[in-house]
Amino acid sequence: MLKKVVLLALGGAFATTVAAQSEIFKADDLVKYRQSIYQVVGAQAKVMGAMVKGEIDFDGEALHQRAVNIGNVGKLLGETYVPATQGVKESNMLPAAWEDMDGFSAKGKAFGSALQELIAVSGEPGFDEAKAKPAVGKLLKSCKACHDDYRD
Ligand code: HEC
Repeated sequence: MLKKVVLLALGGAFATTVAAQSEIFKADDLVKYRQSIYQVVGAQAKVMGAMVKGEIDFDGEALHQRAVNIGNVGKLLGETYVPATQGVKESNMLPAAWEDMDGFSAKGKAFGSALQELIAVSGEPGFDEAKAKPAVGKLLKSCKACHDDYRD
C-alpha cells in the first residue's frame, strides 16, 4: 500500500501501477457481461423487427428509442472482447473471430454504421414504416452477417 502511494506520488508511474478498467473483470464474468449486452441488443432488435413486419403497431418514436438503446449498450461491447475470454466454454464466439480480428471488426463497423443511419433517419420528422423497413432491415442483416461467420 505504502509502496503504491509512494509510486503515485512520484507521478508518471500511475499507468503502470493501476489496472485498466477492463482488467478488473474475470474472463467468465466478461462473457456473461458480453452475452447480457447482446440480450439487451437482441430485445431491442426484436421489437423493431416486429414493428416493421406489422406484428405489432408501428411507433416511430419508440423505434428511435430502441435504436438509441442499442447504441448506448453497444458501446460497452468493446471492453468485453478480451483475449482471455477465448478459453471460456460458455462463450459462443468462434475462434475465427480471434484469428481474424480485422474481419470481425469490419462486421462490427458495418453494424455501427447501419445503427447510426437508423438512429438518424428515425429521429427525423416524417419517419414512417416505409422509411423504417429498409433501415431496420439493414441493421438486422448486419447482425446476421457477423453471426454467420463468428458465432457458434
Ligand atoms: C461484430 C459481430 C456481431 C454483431 C455485429 C452482432 N453480434 Fe450478436 N453476437 C456476436 C457474438 C460473437 C456473440 C457470442 C458472444 C459470446 O457468447 O461470447 C453474439 C451473441 C448474440 C446473442 C446471444 C447472447 C447470449 O445470451 O448468449 C444475441 C441475442 C445477439 N448476439 C444479438 C445480436 C443482434 C440483434 C445484433 C444486431 C442488432 C447483433 N447481435 C450483432 C457477434 C455479433
